[in-house]
Amino acid sequence: MFKNLPDYVEDPILGLFDAYRADSRTRKVNLGIGIYCDEDGRVPVLASVRAARERLDGAVPSIYLPTEGLPAYRHAVRELVFGDTTADLQERVVTIQTAGGTGALRVGAEFLASTNAQPRISMPAPTWVNHQAIFQAAGFEVSHYPYCTPDGRFDIEGALAAMRDLPAGAVMLLHPCCHNPTGIDPSREQWERLLDAIAQRALLPFFDMAYQGFAEGPDDDAWAVRECVRRGMPCLVASSYSKNFSLYGERVGALSIHASDLETAKVLGQLKVVVRRSYSCPPAHGAALVAAVLEDDALNAQWRAELEGMRQRMLGVRASLHALLAAELPDVDLSFLLQQRGMFSYSGLSTAQIDQLRSRHGVYVVSSGRVCIAGINASNIAQVCEALVDVMGRTSEPREQITRISSPA
Ligand SMILES: Cc1ncc(COP(=O)(O)O)c(C=O)c1O
Repeated sequence: MFKNLPDYVEDPILGLFDAYRADSRTRKVNLGIGIYCDEDGRVPVLASVRAARERLDGAVPSIYLPTEGLPAYRHAVRELVFGDTTADLQERVVTIQTAGGTGALRVGAEFLASTNAQPRISMPAPTWVNHQAIFQAAGFEVSHYPYCTPDGRFDIEGALAAMRDLPAGAVMLLHPCCHNPTGIDPSREQWERLLDAIAQRALLPFFDMAYQGFAEGPDDDAWAVRECVRRGMPCLVASSYSKNFSLYGERVGALSIHASDLETAKVLGQLKVVVRRSYSCPPAHGAALVAAVLEDDALNAQWRAELEGMRQRMLGVRASLHALLAAELPDVDLSFLLQQRGMFSYSGLSTAQIDQLRSRHGVYVVSSGRVCIAGINASNIAQVCEALVDVMGRTSEPREQITRISSPA
């Protein structure tokens, strides 16, 4: 019956995690998976989230949520993403709760595919490893726009040129902050140019905001989304609260769509159709936690302070790593470590160097060269530096140019 099924191809990031777990060495460091760890190497339980959990009444029966999710959560997300709860905006934005950021992308993709016979999307090369699969599974034709210049900046000219080949109505996938995997974000001036071109060509921006707060803070990080709305442009936004609330297993995400006030009721209806036939309604607990934090002034302030703490820790790791490596490798340009933002740094390490990191030093890095900065702490930074110095100093190869890694991994 099932003998013609294709062989399973492991997701490269999840497969790396399995290999790390199976490694019997005690001195090993996982810089592969995209999870924020604290100074003790643990996934933090935020105090604001713990307080919200204590406040939630454990005696409330577990009933089904509405298809579109918890009302208080949807309201709180709208405010966090758009920074605005005026009645006017409420009429133009539909937000539904989804199963993580991944669920938001998938529901958004299916929703768009249901309204377009030949859906097309252009995404950065490289981008998060799951983007292509999600949109292809929903029936999209996927193309890529170049993302990085050889000197490690956002490739605005390449992106604009690629947009000229897209038909009106095609979707542009954008990371509003902390681009995964490079950590390179467009400047505001570059965002302006991107949004101008998107409007001129009648393209549809789909923002994937999985790291709000990790680059410059929650409001600054949503700037491109808010600017898009300020200009009156339609857009979709997938939000994830896995990282910035440290609620990975709760699957808390949201999909927001900015449309015209005449369209929103229909948009909500069609989103409910997509959700109903896939998983009927979202999980309750994580969204209740996020809503309880965001809706309470004191918990909201506490969460913002904790988020700022995570952001500052990552900046500190970047600075320390840069200083330690620069002392050992004075001829290597390591400025990328300080310029990139968020959890990831694109190291430009070659495949051979990545293999050596793992086999000789027990340091696990994704095959694209993406390093999870948030996996480094005071206890392992010396080991990570030693390993990097060994593999970078051992070869006469220059650091690979980011554009050479063209596969969307
Ligand atoms: C860019 C990007 N989008 C979406 C996601 C998925 O988020 P979630 O774990 O909430 O489904 C991730 C997770 O790593 C991501 O990096």
